[in-house]
Order: sequence, then structure tokens, then C-alpha cells
Amino acid sequence: MTLNRAGWYRIDDHLCMGGEKMSTSDKPVPGGKTVKLEFDAGIAWVTLNRPKKRNAVNPTMNDEMLPILDALELDDRCGVLVLTGAGESFSAGMDLKEYFREVDHEPALKQAQVRRAAYAWMWRRLINYPKPTIAMVNGWCFGGAFTPLVACDLAIAADEAQFGLSEINWGIIPAGNVTRAVAQVMNHRDSLYYIMTGDTFDGKKAAEMGLVNKSVPRAQLRTETEALARKLLKKNPTVLRHAKTAFKVVRDLDWDTSETFLAAMAVSSGASDPERGRQKGMSQFLDEKSYRPGLGPYRRGE
Ligand code: COA
Repeated sequence: MTLNRAGWYRIDDHLCMGGEKMSTSDKPVPGGKTVKLEFDAGIAWVTLNRPKKRNAVNPTMNDEMLPILDALELDDRCGVLVLTGAGESFSAGMDLKEYFREVDHEPALKQAQVRRAAYAWMWRRLINYPKPTIAMVNGWCFGGAFTPLVACDLAIAADEAQFGLSEINWGIIPAGNVTRAVAQVMNHRDSLYYIMTGDTFDGKKAAEMGLVNKSVPRAQLRTETEALARKLLKKNPTVLRHAKTAFKVVRDLDWDTSETFLAAMAVSSGASDPERGRQKGMSQFLDEKSYRPGLGPYRRGE
């Protein structure tokens, strides 16, 4: 076995990474020891893979995630990206030993570099990701893990998952933009309650507060997540990209600027859509009368 610089390798002519064989195609995707990547008919399952450490996020994981996300942007095998965790944990947040204590004695600029590598994928790359993203919260989800959770477009949790803004319990504030991410999706009272108490809550409570879209028994989590991903795969990807970007931008705009921005995005979406979805949708409804847009998507590929 030879490991190349990008972190992928071959065994018996199979491309492998993160200890797993990749499913199809021989297109290389950079990876490494802390992230597992699997493709399944349009879905890229990206699994934080340090189960013995409850998938705590260390600098190695940060260094590995960014090139993986970059590569998946351009990889046809990824139509929808699902982010999840190996074993009983989604992620126990930032690694207290490797991300904090071992870096505390480093010069300020080195510390800033280590932090930047985390922010780069957990927030910036994910919040601006051009493909649909779903966080599948299978178990523990603490502190820093809230950032990628909120940065994903959609989220489904196991009822049994346990969430917590545990920073207060070990003497820090939820930084790394965790507080900002929480304020984006949870209301004022709930945010402050969990920031100030560090109490845990389960998947059902997370859904009730709008931190995740829904919560289902753990036994159904993967099936439900896959069904949601497959629903998105039936939609026009160019329009999806424009729609989610538009939503995230207009939230912070005044009404007049938003109106102009959305008009420009609508033009951009139509002009850059190789499958001419708008025309197809209208034709299948108005001319063929073969579907109802109110009840489902037009047939792609026709
Ligand atoms: N940073 C570093 N190491 C962590 C970690 C973290 N955030 N979370 C878990 N680990 C490590 C533990 O140190 C332990 O390592 P060891 O086996 O070498 O001793 C291993 O993962 C298993 O942890 P353990 O506490 O025994 O597992 P558990 O299943 O009993 O409990 C948690 C799971 C998630 C409740 C518990 O590990 C925990 O509270 N982690 C910290 C969560 C947190 O506050 N994160 C916020 C960071 S901003």
C-alpha cells in the first residue's frame, strides 16, 4: 500500500481512504485518517471518524476536511453531502487536548492558524457550500460541533442524540462562532438558557427549538436522512444552489436591496441552468399537463 501526498491510496486497484474502500469510479478524493468518505448513488457520506475520541475535532481533522469539501464540490458522485459521525457520537466538539491544550503554548500566530483551519471548513466552506448539505446527528453533539451542524443546510437528529453547549462547564465561552451559529437558529431565551446552564437536550428538543429539522428514532435515522437526500437529488441542482445562497444572503439585507438581489439571482439561476428547468417545468405543466408543480418536481432528464 502506498499513501500519496493527498492521503488516498490503492489496495488491489481500489481507491481507499480513511481505512475504507471507495465505492465507484477511480477519481481520487483527498482524505485521511480522521474522515471517512463513502459514495452511494449521488450521496456523499462524510463521516467524522475518531469514534474512540467521540469524533472530537482535532487539527488533523481540520486539515483533512477542507480538501475533502473542496474535492466534493467538483465531484459528480456528490449531489448531496451528508455530514455525520462514526459510532455513538456526532462530535464531542473541539478536542480539548489537541486543539486547545497542546496549542496553548504556541505563539499567537500559530494559534491563530490552527483556529483558522477549523473555522475554514466548519463555517465558511459549509455555509457557502454549492451543493445541498445535511447534518445527520447520530449521537453526542457538543460545543464546537454546533458550528458545522448549523452551517449545514438541513439537519436530522436521532431522538436519542444528546446536545450541549458545554463550554460553560469547563470555563470558556462558546467561541469559534458557536454562539453566533446558535443565535442564527435558536431563539433568544433558549440560546441563553443552554449557553448559561450547559444543560444537555435530546434530538426531540433540538427539533422543537429549530436547531434541527426533525428528530427520529435512531433506528430510522439513516433511512430518513437518505430519503431527504434523495428528494433533493430529484430537484434541479443549479436552482437549489441559487435558492439556498439567496436565502442566506437576503436574511441580512433590507427589503429593497433584497428585492434587487433576488431578481439578479433569478436571472443568474436561469442563465446558468444547463437543463433549462424553468422551461421544462412550464412545458410539462402547461403543454403536456403531465405533472403538478404544487405537488412535486418536474421530470429531469427529459
Ligand atoms: N476533547 C478531547 N478528548 C475528548 C473529547 C474532547 N472534546 N471528548 C471525548 N474525548 C475523549 C476522552 O478524553 C476519552 O479519551 P481516552 O479514552 O483517551 O480517555 C474518550 O474520548 C472517550 O471519552 P469518554 O468521556 O470516556 O466517553 P463517554 O462516552 O463516557 O462520554 C462525552 C462522552 C462526549 C459526554 C464526554 O467525552 C465529554 O463530555 N466530552 C467533552 C464534550 C465537550 O465538552 N466538548 C466541548 C468542546 S468545545
